[in-house]
Amino acid sequence: MEIKPFLVEEWMNQYEVGARYNIAETCVDSVSLDELFQLTGEDKEAFLSSLCARRLTYGDIFGQPAFLEGICRLYRDLRPEQVIPTHGAAGANHHLFCSLVEPGDKVISVLPTYQQLYSIPDSLGAQVELLPLSPDNGFLPDLARLEELAQEGVKLICLNNPNNPTGALMSQEMLEEIVSIARRHGAYILCDEVYRHLTQEDGYCPSIVDLYEKGISVSSMSKVFSLAGIRLGWIASRDPEVLERCLIHRDYDLISCGLLDETVAALALKHGDKLLARNRGIVRENLSILDNWVRREPHVTYVKPQAGTTALVYYDLDIPSYDFCKEMYHATGAFVTPGDCFQQERCVRVGYACDRQTLVDGLEAMSAFLAQKAKS
Ligand SMILES: Cc1ncc(COP(=O)(O)O)c(C=O)c1O
Repeated sequence: MEIKPFLVEEWMNQYEVGARYNIAETCVDSVSLDELFQLTGEDKEAFLSSLCARRLTYGDIFGQPAFLEGICRLYRDLRPEQVIPTHGAAGANHHLFCSLVEPGDKVISVLPTYQQLYSIPDSLGAQVELLPLSPDNGFLPDLARLEELAQEGVKLICLNNPNNPTGALMSQEMLEEIVSIARRHGAYILCDEVYRHLTQEDGYCPSIVDLYEKGISVSSMSKVFSLAGIRLGWIASRDPEVLERCLIHRDYDLISCGLLDETVAALALKHGDKLLARNRGIVRENLSILDNWVRREPHVTYVKPQAGTTALVYYDLDIPSYDFCKEMYHATGAFVTPGDCFQQERCVRVGYACDRQTLVDGLEAMSAFLAQKAKS
């Protein structure tokens, strides 16, 4: 199967490890198991001795009940059998496309977004139409344009809410309008929701499966719960055909997710409110640091994110984004992601949910680099 290189992942793979100030990362400051035990107040010794006593079988093929129940609590009214555990959200998106999309199907995806949402259907032979998101519109989709693209049939509409890289958040009202368009055309909606709950304001953030019978939510433990190392994600849907097709494929490419990982995830989700309180605190404090920096820094502008962990920051220098990022990385150790990884020019993606000091130092290094480039 031919597939285009995944630009953002290639970029991260190449530079992430050596970065002095990693302000490209999109997870909320990842935690160790020790920190997880501190945060949750659970008994580490009891947990470990019960885990170590378990025989390492395939475990629960459809997912550990406590893990599935923890996931269900993240939605309004979902049952465990409507959740399919996968290897991260990356595995979930891939699995969903391979299960649902046939050559010739029309798939609409927003752009910019995580490249899986358009490059995988493209590689499967789908006819992919891109729905551009523009800073002039707060990076929210133009629904008249979506309606036009949906004419003559569409199988699947791909959204990402909150959006990576822009941090835009579609409201329930906007999601409902998109649902009406999808319903008129009998289309599924896949919403990649790995940043859902990471909002700047309190309150429930609706999922597409709360709003649409043909909605498909993809999410994971990586961003919201700071546990990318356990590589666990899921597909959630109320649609029987989606669930059936995904389960058929799952026997071929996954069988089950690891029981060690699922046990850790179940523990984290049992205390989901505590992790969420920590992580909302981080994204809120850090966004205010980023926002103050953008206001002070003469060479940059942005649309302030409403949610998630990332922002697209535009600079006023005449230099392509890959060159900008490489030069800055080598000169200062500050590591951000080129906008060109998302088909966006003259901008970079900043991941602001890292630890506070790294963000402060990274932005300072970026200011020094911008000042020096503007002079030369
Ligand atoms: C929008 C989006 N979807 C999916 C993923 C993959 O996440 P996971 O670690 O759960 O595989 C990412 C990771 O950056 C992402 O930003």
